[in-house]
Amino acid sequence: MKHPHELSDVQMAETFADYRRNTATRLDEAGEAQAQGQGARVGVSRKHESAHLHVAGEAAYIDDLPELEGTLHCALGLSPVAHGRLTALALEAVRAMPGVVEVITAADIPGVNDCGSIIHDDPILCDGEIRYVGQPLFAVIARTREEARRAAALAKSAASIEVLPPVLTPQKAHELGQYVMPPMHLERSTHEGGARAAIAGAPHRLKDSFEVGGQEQFYLEGQISYAIPKEDGAVHIHCSTQHPSEMQHLVAHALGLASHAVQVECRRMGGGFGGKESQSALFACVAAVAATRLRRPVKLRLDRDDDFMITGRRHCFWYEYEVGYDDEGRVLGAEISMVSRAGHSADLSAPVMTRALCHFDNAYWLPDVSMHGYMGKTNTQSNTAFRGFGGPQGAIAIENILDTVARALGRDPLDVRRANFYGQEARNVTPYEQTVTDNVIHELVAELEASSDYRARRAAAAAFNAQSPVLKRGLALTPLKFGISFNVAHFNQAGALVHIYTDGSILVNHGGTEMGQGLNTKVAQVVAHELGVAFERVRVTATDTSKVANTSATAASTGADLNGKAAQDAARQLRERLAECAARLHGGDAKSVRFANDAVEVNGQTLAFADLVRSAYLQRVQLWSDGFYATPGLHWDGKAMKGRPFFYFAYGAAVSEVVVDTLTGEWKLLRADVLHDVGRSLNPAVDIGQVEGAFIQGMGWLTTEELVWHPQSGKLTTHAPSTYKIPTANDCPPVFNVRLFEGDNYEDSIHRSKAVGEPPLLLPFSVFFAIRDAVSSAADHRLSPPLRAPATPEAILRAVEAVQGHTR
Ligand code: MTE
Ligand code: MOS
Repeated sequence: MKHPHELSDVQMAETFADYRRNTATRLDEAGEAQAQGQGARVGVSRKHESAHLHVAGEAAYIDDLPELEGTLHCALGLSPVAHGRLTALALEAVRAMPGVVEVITAADIPGVNDCGSIIHDDPILCDGEIRYVGQPLFAVIARTREEARRAAALAKSAASIEVLPPVLTPQKAHELGQYVMPPMHLERSTHEGGARAAIAGAPHRLKDSFEVGGQEQFYLEGQISYAIPKEDGAVHIHCSTQHPSEMQHLVAHALGLASHAVQVECRRMGGGFGGKESQSALFACVAAVAATRLRRPVKLRLDRDDDFMITGRRHCFWYEYEVGYDDEGRVLGAEISMVSRAGHSADLSAPVMTRALCHFDNAYWLPDVSMHGYMGKTNTQSNTAFRGFGGPQGAIAIENILDTVARALGRDPLDVRRANFYGQEARNVTPYEQTVTDNVIHELVAELEASSDYRARRAAAAAFNAQSPVLKRGLALTPLKFGISFNVAHFNQAGALVHIYTDGSILVNHGGTEMGQGLNTKVAQVVAHELGVAFERVRVTATDTSKVANTSATAASTGADLNGKAAQDAARQLRERLAECAARLHGGDAKSVRFANDAVEVNGQTLAFADLVRSAYLQRVQLWSDGFYATPGLHWDGKAMKGRPFFYFAYGAAVSEVVVDTLTGEWKLLRADVLHDVGRSLNPAVDIGQVEGAFIQGMGWLTTEELVWHPQSGKLTTHAPSTYKIPTANDCPPVFNVRLFEGDNYEDSIHRSKAVGEPPLLLPFSVFFAIRDAVSSAADHRLSPPLRAPATPEAILRAVEAVQGHTR
């Protein structure tokens, strides 16, 4: 099985000569370091630890594992109706299908019929209430996957359903006051009367609404679990998941077992993007229930359409806002309601909304602000994490506002954005009362403005547009600030185990999961660096709940921050033990023992690392260690929505230039320039890959990827690549200048690096606003186009017609 999309992050970085030129400094440094035999150190570009397996198709994903004798296959029977009561399930015909071994319903779940991650409102199999088209009603277990699928397809005729009218849009749910969780409010006043008074007293006001669509994760490896019964009632599950510990807990609940009877393992995912944070649970639970009941290994692998129909994705958001601003475009007061499409259950909708509210400020000082978040309960798939986790939905709202303000004032949008930036000493407290102490947005944007030739290209685009009636160019620079850490403080912890074997080879296990983002590569670099050994000496193994316990999801971009620190802690303890042993054997002070280049310098002598390890073993020194890390200084009051939820912020900015055909709504990204802050990079090649991947993925969200539910039946009609369009390699701009911003993390993060997984997803806001810029040029920039995301050609055409209609 090949996973080209998973490769592209790193591969692209290594393939495009342009990128090498653009990252010349860092990559040269890296090359030099390797030439000097310092390849172990962090900060070096090295390829993904599995790259050679990825390209050869040899990296094992769960469906590639050799199947055990007697393995059975599972498929799910899905609801054809969006809302109703399941009055009967006639399963005789299903049972009679060829190859069928067993059919399982909610009644057959020995423990609790729930796989909700936070709120327990998520039945594994239908408990009587039909909640959406695609909801699993029963599970078929058969000899082959094909037979299981054929039998499961009889769901339509097997289910007797009393149909009720569905609620299909977040707006409708909001009208009805139907939410999965109570509304959230985040407010801050610096003046008497707060946001309302600030808006009322402002020289200018803007009141409007805006909308962004949802997004399918489209991981290349679909959801899959392979459950193997073990002795004495236990079960071992290979699960493609970002959160093995949560899978362990939910499976234990479903089976009525203690956690110690459930082992969950994941070597790697073929992509997760947030979609396997909570939503791998249903499949893990069903496979585990079937495997323990039948005492046979059971595999449940979804095909793409079923994955689309059953699982949720990024929340679409609908906003209503009013802002007051001054002549410079500075926002004086803002009030906004955000309504998300939560789907039928809570899942992660509340933390996603929290992050959205905590990112409405993006990089801007908003003195008086009043935000309200509503999580609309709809008869659709339950929406969940997706790269950015609500942050992009929060931040794009203020970007849309500032873009509109700029046009109303006849100013360059960059000037209006800049006028609103957080200050570096004053005007630097977020609405949730965290002081922004590491603000680099001013320098970063100034550098990008110069390196991208922003002003000259704006002028050139205007000149082009003046003589081009149909094709219009547009250009936009958008900044980003993204908070790093889980908002819930106690999730910010991690553990690791490091073993040194007597031959000097090193095995690392940590609580994070590898989904293509290069986490294992970075953690191995950290360990190699700490012990002064070659990268090749270190192997990182599958994430496994029986090795490191009580892990957090690999999410919120914190994988390397948390697990890197935990692995460093373990490796440090080993280094200290080895140093003491070396000093005992060879004299000198343990503190002055040096580990570098696979060797150890002690008291004027140089030993091979492996020789010291061997001696330490003979001296009965413990050659394995655990490590632990908890991010310091975090606190969060979820009710008041105040505190210090983030350890630090990551920053970035992008300039995009597009050309739009105003007769067809088609467009093309001509050039993108990115400057992104990853602190002191652990691995520039991997980081640049993450930045590029997130840029293109976010661009897909805002332009080509459109989800359409049938307005009557509530069926998702865009449930395959034929109708749902993710970007491909061809959609990369011909000029794509991606650079990393030079600077350390002000906080003591792992080697002063910054998280990179999600923040760059906000960079392609610049693509959306470049399109908006091009459209508004069709009416001499006097109007703000009513453009919604995704900016599909249809949406662009409607916006063009709207602005032209006004001028005619
Ligand atoms: N990169 C790849 N190749 N595949 C993925 O699934 N997920 C993203 C990001 N980058 C993802 C990815 C998401 S949603 C997150 S939260 C982070 O990686 C998680 O990994 P990290 O914390 O190690 O950065
Ligand atoms: Mo990422 S959305 O936090 O898994």
